[in-house]
Amino acid sequence: MLSFALGVLLGLAACVSLLDNGLLRTPPMGWEPWVRFKCNTDCKRDPENCISEHLIKAMADRLAGDGWKKLGYEYITLDDCWAARKRDVEGRLQADPQRFPSGMKTLADYVHSKGLKFGIYSDLGNATCAGYPGTTLDVVETDAETFAEWGVDMLKLDGCHSNSSLKAIGYPKMSRALNRTGRPIALSCSWPAYEGGLPPKVNYTLLGQICNLWRNYADIEDTWDSLFGIIEWYGDHQDILQPASGPGRWNDPDMLIVSDFGLSHEQSKVQAALWAILAAPFFISCNLRNISEEAKDILQNPLLIYINQDLRGIQGRLVARKQNFEVWKRPLVNGQYAIAVLNNCTDGAPRSFATTLRLLDISSCRVGYKIYSVLDKLFLGAYALSDTLIAKVPPTGVVLLFLYPLC
Ligand code: GLA
Repeated sequence: MLSFALGVLLGLAACVSLLDNGLLRTPPMGWEPWVRFKCNTDCKRDPENCISEHLIKAMADRLAGDGWKKLGYEYITLDDCWAARKRDVEGRLQADPQRFPSGMKTLADYVHSKGLKFGIYSDLGNATCAGYPGTTLDVVETDAETFAEWGVDMLKLDGCHSNSSLKAIGYPKMSRALNRTGRPIALSCSWPAYEGGLPPKVNYTLLGQICNLWRNYADIEDTWDSLFGIIEWYGDHQDILQPASGPGRWNDPDMLIVSDFGLSHEQSKVQAALWAILAAPFFISCNLRNISEEAKDILQNPLLIYINQDLRGIQGRLVARKQNFEVWKRPLVNGQYAIAVLNNCTDGAPRSFATTLRLLDISSCRVGYKIYSVLDKLFLGAYALSDTLIAKVPPTGVVLLFLYPLC
């Protein structure tokens, strides 16, 4: 009887094969086309902005050439609309021959030659969200092998045109199939976003075992309302979301929309600051060919990136909501902290928020902390635990602070 029970247990353990790729010990950084370039396939009329090898190569050139790569932005990923409308005669996915005439392997080689990593997109269902061929259950292995042969380093696996039971089988199946290729391929699972993002429908323990990152909420749109809605959802459900995240398994609140059309400069800082606090992937979705200096200044801020990439990998938490202020706090290595004070009023002048380190429950170094205003690139001074700290925060804006212990 005992040996039968043991056999069943071992059998179960064998079914749950982990995504054992050791990747993404810190959140991934890079560029992704979807928010900015969508499913623009009209290369005749819009050759510079259509989804094509030309666009991907141009962005790889910018990422490698304009100082991004050395700061950690290393993934160039495709999103939807890269594939031909039909699989090839052997049932394999193929790139659209007009827009990707050199083929995906050559494109991946180009990206690698720039010292970057190459990501691709598919959908666990009958079709992708934009209607291109999907990865049905019977071709999960075939697609994993194809991606490995092309030299793919990350797969975003979406979940349109499918259902809950298929996803429950398909996501773990893809995870195992990627493992089996022998190529380290990070897996981004959109699964939770299709199940409302919360238990009992979403099992974050399982996700942490089979995916490196996952989208859990609605698509970001190029507006403040969309951005703030995501921040609020993460705050409201942090007791579930925060422990789910850690090295190798990240919550993904979606792409950075800094330098697109919808956000003011101050609102752009909000996204950058909160994504750093949330240990979120930094996937920029803008046109890197004409990114503004202001936007570049935000996204290339070394201290911002240092916070995002902190090796403890602890997602920050919303610690106070008061009079349209939100205070977010993230513990970092060596007793350091990041604090974001967000003012979500949409009208009026900057407002002052006053606090002390003690009130923020930051007291392990009794002598005090040096405090830097990260996005203003200012050293504010050394603060004792009971000194009053005042942050002047613009409407729909943020002050991001970095705290360095004096002990
Ligand atoms: C879904 C995803 C988006 C994007 C599109 C592509 O909406 O959530 O991020 O990949 O599909 O069609």
